[in-house]
Amino acid sequence: MKVLIIGSGGREHALAWKIAQSSMVESIFCTPGNGGISEIADCVDLNVSDIDALLRFAKKERIELAIVGPENSLASGIVDVFGREGIPIFGPSMKGAQIEASKVFSKELLTEYGIPTAPFRSFRQYNDALAHIQAITPPYVIKADGLCAGKGAYVIRDQNEGAQVIQDLMVHKIYGDAGARIIIEDFLPGIEASYLAFTDGTDILPMVPSQDHKPLLDNDKGPNTGGMGAYTPIPFISKSMEEEINARIMTGTIKAMGDKGITYKGVLYGGLMLKDCSPYVIEFNARLGDPETQPLLFKMESDIVPILLACIEGKLSDIKEIKWKPGVSICVVIASKGYPENPEKGKAIKGLEYLKRQKDVAVFHAGTKKIGDTFYTSGGRVLGVTATGETYRDAIKNVYDAVSCIEFEGMYFRKDIGSKALKITEE
Ligand code: AMP
Ligand code: GLY
Repeated sequence: MKVLIIGSGGREHALAWKIAQSSMVESIFCTPGNGGISEIADCVDLNVSDIDALLRFAKKERIELAIVGPENSLASGIVDVFGREGIPIFGPSMKGAQIEASKVFSKELLTEYGIPTAPFRSFRQYNDALAHIQAITPPYVIKADGLCAGKGAYVIRDQNEGAQVIQDLMVHKIYGDAGARIIIEDFLPGIEASYLAFTDGTDILPMVPSQDHKPLLDNDKGPNTGGMGAYTPIPFISKSMEEEINARIMTGTIKAMGDKGITYKGVLYGGLMLKDCSPYVIEFNARLGDPETQPLLFKMESDIVPILLACIEGKLSDIKEIKWKPGVSICVVIASKGYPENPEKGKAIKGLEYLKRQKDVAVFHAGTKKIGDTFYTSGGRVLGVTATGETYRDAIKNVYDAVSCIEFEGMYFRKDIGSKALKITEE
């Protein structure tokens, strides 16, 4: 089978790495891909938003399975376009992708169907939003309605900051139309978890829960990023809480969308807050997470291709379970100096060859390109060094040993990925 992966990040490298192990697959293309992906797939320089060009390419190459990484392509309706041409494609339709592309859509759906989430109000007018924040006390959270590459959510801790944020979003329009409408919601304290499930629109097949680390600096300080590291499993969710999440939140949301005439297929990613032993939805994503995908696919033992096809064909109930390798899987993101604001580029990366020979370690590339035999940095998040271990302590040691083998000028990584789990399990 010929497979096309759309995207260029660490998530797409992990997908290519996993799909390349499937006996069903004969070749893999990736658009546009990156330096690391180019070693296992044919990278073709097509933009993820150029749906016409992607369609032409898929038809020409007779692609039999396409997988969409980034949310923008989903929100632009790539799945609808490929679907009309009969090309099997993994991901939700444009309407389904609204669960991520519009916070108002998602919050209204959750509220209507009684799925737990923070109480909220939505605003189109700056003056109304301003009057609202003058009447409430921080902390609260302001979010742009539309897609802002993970940057449109602000936890507000003092009143002046709130006024500034709504002015930036609604008057200065720093995210254009994405911030023309906003929501303001209650702050929920607790522990965050990423809960991803495959779905064919009827059934769900959950993955192991994982945890991302969004802030740039150790101890969750500094600005939010795309994600600085992730690990799976997590020690904060009991079996009974998982059952509640599966029934009330994940299946509940798929059913609610079905009720609105949307058959949601692909991955539903719940960004959850676990508060007083109860799960609340902070946001939904319509795709695999980055960097959660890296440790998840490193831990997955089952062939992923039959699962992807079963979602597309509406036959997920045929797949009884996903098999996982034992132990803990963890990914530490190495970023360029200046990330997330203004990352440096063009630095030569050393240590990759050595790590290729190490067992239980994979280095998933994000912002890299290969020139000759050398890899150079080409973006903010550069590498996702991923390793396993029997316990949290082993996995953390293995991953940071591997990170210490990598070298490029200005490289930066968090030193505390997995430490929340370590603290809880060893206390
Ligand atoms: P989002 O883009 O909605 O996932 O929000 C980005 C980050 O802001 C989340 O990962 C949380 O750390 C934080 N956040 C968002 N909404 C809330 C909330 N209602 N209560 C507490 N923290 C939140
Ligand atoms: N890990 C956060 C995201 O994929 O949006």
